[in-house]
Amino acid sequence: MTNQAGTYIEQLKDNVGKQVKLAGWLYNSRSSGKVQFLIIRDGTGLCQCVVEKGKVPDDVFEQLRHLGQESSLAVTGLVRADERSVGGYELAVTAAEVIGRTEGYPITPKSHGVDFLMRHRHLHFRSQRQWCIGRVRHTVIDAIRRFFNDNGYVLIDTPIFTTIVGEDQTSLFEVDYFGEPLHLTQTGQLYLESAAMSFGRVYCFGPTFRAEKSKTRRHLTEFWMVEPEVAFIDLDGLLELAENFVSYIVARVLADNRSELETLGSDIESLEKMTPPFYRLTYTEAVEILTGQRTVDFMAEQLRQLRDQRQRAKGGIAELEQQLTGSLKQWKRDKIAAELIELRADLAETNTKIENNPKHAELAAGFRWGKDLGGSDETIISQMHDKPVFVTHYPKDAKAFYMKTDRADEKVALNFDLLAPAGFGEIIGGSVREDDHDRLLARIKQEGLNPETYAWYLDLRKYGSVPHGGFGLGVERTVAWITAEKHIRQCIPFPRMMDKVYI
Ligand code: 4AD
Ligand code: MG
Repeated sequence: MTNQAGTYIEQLKDNVGKQVKLAGWLYNSRSSGKVQFLIIRDGTGLCQCVVEKGKVPDDVFEQLRHLGQESSLAVTGLVRADERSVGGYELAVTAAEVIGRTEGYPITPKSHGVDFLMRHRHLHFRSQRQWCIGRVRHTVIDAIRRFFNDNGYVLIDTPIFTTIVGEDQTSLFEVDYFGEPLHLTQTGQLYLESAAMSFGRVYCFGPTFRAEKSKTRRHLTEFWMVEPEVAFIDLDGLLELAENFVSYIVARVLADNRSELETLGSDIESLEKMTPPFYRLTYTEAVEILTGQRTVDFMAEQLRQLRDQRQRAKGGIAELEQQLTGSLKQWKRDKIAAELIELRADLAETNTKIENNPKHAELAAGFRWGKDLGGSDETIISQMHDKPVFVTHYPKDAKAFYMKTDRADEKVALNFDLLAPAGFGEIIGGSVREDDHDRLLARIKQEGLNPETYAWYLDLRKYGSVPHGGFGLGVERTVAWITAEKHIRQCIPFPRMMDKVYI
């Protein structure tokens, strides 16, 4: 496959020793008088293009020398393998043509604040980090579809306008539907249950909406969720499905996006360990851990490490500040300034963690059986593990009405959350569904929901009810975990958050 120009950067490996034409954007450039090094990106990768005076017409050489970042251009030249170059190949340029000249591109190689970058999301996409994350997200979504399509699941598209409350009544986005109040879907699950009674194994995959009043790094108001639903499955079967599914996604990203993961600083070694079986804890065991000595010791050790980290960050900052007092070339000055911004941001984050550590330790110690696990509790459990952890059998009153009560212990539900390791927290929530008509009706009433709205859902328990269940995996949280990105707003192209919609 070729582009209009002829060759994509990702195809250079097959074109060593040949003359090719590339078309792209100027990512970065430096010049040493007689030679210019232009880093060009074309959507498939980066390539260093070497322009020597005398090898191209003088006017072209001059034009390139003054070309602004993100100008678009086409270059022709000879492909050489060069290990030191980005991507491993470079181009010895013999001809070049400027297509769209750019001046004053707002995003420079210096660091910018989050707000600035979010307001420039339409341009920020071009940055190396966003490019890497976007490619990982693409693979994650492809792997999700492939996993279910190859394992006998039928895709069912569930509606976005809905009458039912899928998860909780406090986070609904109401819409005026020709004078009728409807809301945007929180989950496709209830519709999917009806489809599972027709097709056996089904999944839905689409955007979901929650008016959650949380401004955390784990919450978006619009996010993508994939949900499988299976007839004739129990809790053990669901856990097995979830661990095979997550392992498959991680393996695909490792196979397809290793260089992106390296650029992003993901922990590749630990991702390679993400194979079944994952850890399994009951909620009650999780509470015992949180309120026991293990958490006390763990939090104390974490505080020690954070303080060391703070010392190191302070030292690093002092050293860079010292360097800035000397006489330096402008590019070196810019580089140090960018590093300083990063280090100061790291330091601020470490300080916040140091401040939060005792609060989180106290919350954990005071945790009482019966509540849902909070964000900090999940973080602690997930930090204690080097692989994902299933937490199962939550108190039924803390969870959604559709979850099946454990007949062996009526206080708990047959449900699970999957917590990604190293502090990332919940990426999946799922359960066996209540399949007994009367019990489900009682739960619907207990939640204050209108049974008439759920008449069709209750029908599924009247006509050939079977044990069944499923789960939902959040795409952005999964991408954030795999790419080691701190905030999920970076893991969706155009994020929607409680406090901000930028563009
Ligand atoms: O745990 P949740 O709420 O489960 C459900 O919606 C079930 N109906 C799924 C099912 O059983 N079919 O959400 C599932 C996942 C979470 O684990 C999380 O990964 C993601 O969806 N998620 C969010 N992601 C980003 N922002 C939010 N506000 C999210 N809320 C949930
Ligand atoms: Mg959940």
